[in-house]
Amino acid sequence: MSLTDLIYAGSNAVAGLTEGAVNDAIEKYGADHSVGYPDTAYFLPIIYAATGVKIKTLGDLPAAVGILKSLITNKEDLGEALNAGLATAVGAEIIEALRYLEGDPYANDSGIGFVADPIIRSLGVPLVTGDIPGIAVLLGEASDPAALAAIVKDYQQKGLLTFMVGNIIEQALDAGVKMGLDYRVIPLGHEITSVIHVVSVAIRAALIFGGIEPGKLPEFLAYTKERVPAFVNTFGEINEVIVAVGAGAIALGFPVIADVAVPEVPGALMTQADLEKTVEFSLEAREIKIKVTKIDVPVAVASAFEGERVRKDAMFAEFGGNKTECWELVTSGDPAEMEDHKITLIGPDIDDPMFAGKDVVRLPLGIVVTVGGKAMQKDFETVLERRIHYFTNYIDGAMHVGQRNIAWIRLTKEAFEKGFRLKHIGEVLYAKMRSDFEKVVDKCEITIYTNAEDVKRLGEELVKPIYAERDERMGALTDESVDTFYTCLLCQSFAPSHVCIVTPERLGLCGAVSWLDAKATKELDPEGPNQPVIKGQAIDAQTGRWEAVDKAVASASQGAVEKVTLYSILEDPMTSCGCFECICGIMPEANGVIIVNREFSDISPVGMTFGELASMTGGGVQTPGFMGHGRFLIGSKKFMSAEGGLSRIVWMPKELKDDVAERLNKAVFEMTGIENFADMVCDETIATDSEAVLEFLESKNHPALAMDPIM
Ligand code: SF4
Ligand code: NI
Ligand code: NI
Repeated sequence: MSLTDLIYAGSNAVAGLTEGAVNDAIEKYGADHSVGYPDTAYFLPIIYAATGVKIKTLGDLPAAVGILKSLITNKEDLGEALNAGLATAVGAEIIEALRYLEGDPYANDSGIGFVADPIIRSLGVPLVTGDIPGIAVLLGEASDPAALAAIVKDYQQKGLLTFMVGNIIEQALDAGVKMGLDYRVIPLGHEITSVIHVVSVAIRAALIFGGIEPGKLPEFLAYTKERVPAFVNTFGEINEVIVAVGAGAIALGFPVIADVAVPEVPGALMTQADLEKTVEFSLEAREIKIKVTKIDVPVAVASAFEGERVRKDAMFAEFGGNKTECWELVTSGDPAEMEDHKITLIGPDIDDPMFAGKDVVRLPLGIVVTVGGKAMQKDFETVLERRIHYFTNYIDGAMHVGQRNIAWIRLTKEAFEKGFRLKHIGEVLYAKMRSDFEKVVDKCEITIYTNAEDVKRLGEELVKPIYAERDERMGALTDESVDTFYTCLLCQSFAPSHVCIVTPERLGLCGAVSWLDAKATKELDPEGPNQPVIKGQAIDAQTGRWEAVDKAVASASQGAVEKVTLYSILEDPMTSCGCFECICGIMPEANGVIIVNREFSDISPVGMTFGELASMTGGGVQTPGFMGHGRFLIGSKKFMSAEGGLSRIVWMPKELKDDVAERLNKAVFEMTGIENFADMVCDETIATDSEAVLEFLESKNHPALAMDPIM
């Protein structure tokens, strides 16, 4: 059979299955029965993107099946056949949605099935920073499970996000591959149709970050081809349905690499039978470049291990976590007096004989990273210090929580058995500081202290005064006290017209880029994503308008956005890309705003979930009334100060409220004299329906109720 014949055979088969399944479902549940995926604001996302149609009930599906069938022309033409591939995707999306009619079909499966909107949003930052350099989609059953496992581990070590479909999931698990979102290896499911959940991720990336209008299919295809760095590897024999699914992937711009002979289409469908070459071949086919830093330690070190948690039963050693003292510090030294790559441990290591027979090794820990270089600035110390958290987490077998003197580190038994010791933490920090900050770090020394007496004394004499001095400097750092703001254009790789303006009091909406970060990045990468905006004379400093800011935004967004009012949610608010930590929206009856964070999955008092609220904005478009922002902004005096500021906040999820309470209370007190403002803010443990929220606000005499009407 020719390639097109194969594609049509597969797509016609899927079309038949889909039609049958839709008819059965309508017969069983009735046309009015609702259908959809959990925790998404985009209905059946592929159909919604391709046609603009919002599928809500089973009765909406026959029309979609009609469109699907019309895409299968059976014409002997590759372009037409690729459309049949898209039809297959639509069919798979419908079949999988129908499986959700009776509850989560993946509840007892090693696959996770549909990927919720908030997870996609959380992947925005690592994708734009290149922390996740690409997306691998693996499917089938491998003839050589060991070689398959090596491939998955290689992708993991390179930081890729890997999705798996089929029996390769068990094959990889059996071979010891660590799996789950936290390890960037995501098992989707065993049925071939479950591959649609990764297609859905790519399409929703275009909806969420790209701001592409539903119904404009060619724009979606261009987006996924240009901006979603995905490719497909198939393992084992290929049938018509796999080929038809593959055609769908090719239509999205994702090359497909099979390990068996296929009718090749250069750049799109290829064979690589040697599994040892699969990784390199695939990365080349998708033009994915990987930056590797060779680190001499006995375990893997990769960004893919960042999310790993170390639970008690897997733990070998623990530092901090309220049991012992644990702090970390980056400080600058005089390069002339430094010896590069000097790593010193002062005190016992985790294999010290005194721990023989102990359940768990507990030690105090102090880490001093001294960096030196001509371009190093004092202000960058905190930027580098915060990276200790990430670098340590990259270690397969290490968990790092917190920062400064509330750091908390756990190491696994597995890592210990592989030979991991404390000096290796030093090796990792050394290598990453040198490679990630090569422009400012010429020399780096690491000293690790584990004697209780040293850790305590240095904690008091060396570390605390430095923290205090920094806090003071940070406190004095306001939007008024600097003459330069920064643009951040990192997210433009996903949201082409989005620009963040980062100021001392308004960090990037992803929560990951502070003004100091932006300043340091400018130094590290002068032509890079953070460019200075000399702010000059304000048009209105109260609401946050500067001519220089408007100019910078207009130019960086290619004219898509002309004006931005930095401290307003209503008047020319800053745009969002989609990866924001929190979404703020107006609750008119309360004369204030609610804020929902990405982790909160229930419905908010305005009747929408985070995902639904988030879908109201994004893609670099200005949407008055909705604002994406970082957690840290809740506590900034510039938080929508044009509309009255922090005292407008009437509701937040409890976890978020507790997290920000201290800074929020302090800022509101300084601005209004109101004490313990956080206690006046409602949360889901108090009320979520509008009336009850209002009652609560009245009982607390919440200040928003007495302010000017917000709209
Ligand atoms: Fe994206 Fe803005 Fe964060 Fe930069 S600061 S990474 S543009 S969200
Ligand atoms: Ni880790
Ligand atoms: Ni973003």
